[in-house]
Amino acid sequence: MRVADLDRDMSHVIPTGMGVDSEYLFARMTDLTLGLADAGGGGRVLDVASGPGADAFTLAARGALVVGVEPSSRMLGLAQLVGEEREGPAPAFVQAWSDRLPFADASFSAVYCKGSIDHFDRPERAIAEMARVTKPEGRVVLAIANFESAACRLARALDLGRETWLGRAVSPGRRMYDVPSDHFTRYDLDLMRQQAGAALHLEQIEGISLAWGFPGWAALLAALPKSLARGAVQALDAGARRIPDWADVVVLAGRPRSASTSR
Ligand SMILES: C[S@@+](CC[C@H](N)C(=O)[O-])C[C@H]1O[C@@H](n2cnc3c(N)ncnc32)[C@H](O)[C@@H]1O
Repeated sequence: MRVADLDRDMSHVIPTGMGVDSEYLFARMTDLTLGLADAGGGGRVLDVASGPGADAFTLAARGALVVGVEPSSRMLGLAQLVGEEREGPAPAFVQAWSDRLPFADASFSAVYCKGSIDHFDRPERAIAEMARVTKPEGRVVLAIANFESAACRLARALDLGRETWLGRAVSPGRRMYDVPSDHFTRYDLDLMRQQAGAALHLEQIEGISLAWGFPGWAALLAALPKSLARGAVQALDAGARRIPDWADVVVLAGRPRSASTSR
């Protein structure tokens, strides 16, 4: 039996009440991913692991011909409900796994996969498939959470110091630097480069946000006036753009390598 993450609701990873930092991170992750995927404008675009389909609907509304591919019947059902409530152009949705995309070679001008690769049981095969179905001059865009971000490293070091030097046990439960139980892969930038670089000529690597999830950070921001909190989040995001190794999320974009080198 294939074990995969098909019934999640994301509530254990994404905080339910969205603070300034979460709002900023998720909005920028979406804007950057869709902006890079839709750079040519009006092309045929594939959303791999499209989930409830929000991104696919956004791109379709901008005029792209969008196909969402997603193995989960539950997610496809949610996308259908979204479609019933929205007017205007809608994406097509196809039920399939990412590592066996049911599309012809070079049939999309862009392919993107946002916040999902760490849920895949065969991520390298999935990236090779994304490269295969993308036109040679097209683009594959991957948005991935970084579990070696500055926030993860610092939080882990503080916990270790507390345990080692103060003898105080870390409180039970998942820490922000622990990979959620439904992730197959713990990504850092080196692993992202290695896996994506096998199938893609990487052209752009951009970091998003610093400090997201760090203990106490969201509470501190909530206590600040909103404009000050937003300014702080934007200033840290500027740092993440310069040093993607430290960023909370990394977006990588590249052209497919030729079939002979990527497969
Ligand atoms: C965190 S959700 C992200 C959904 C969407 N991309 C977004 O940003 O909202 C991860 C998605 O990956 C899908 N998934 C898990 N394993 C998969 C696989 N091997 N191939 C394709 N999709 C998979 C899940 O069904 C889920 O919809």
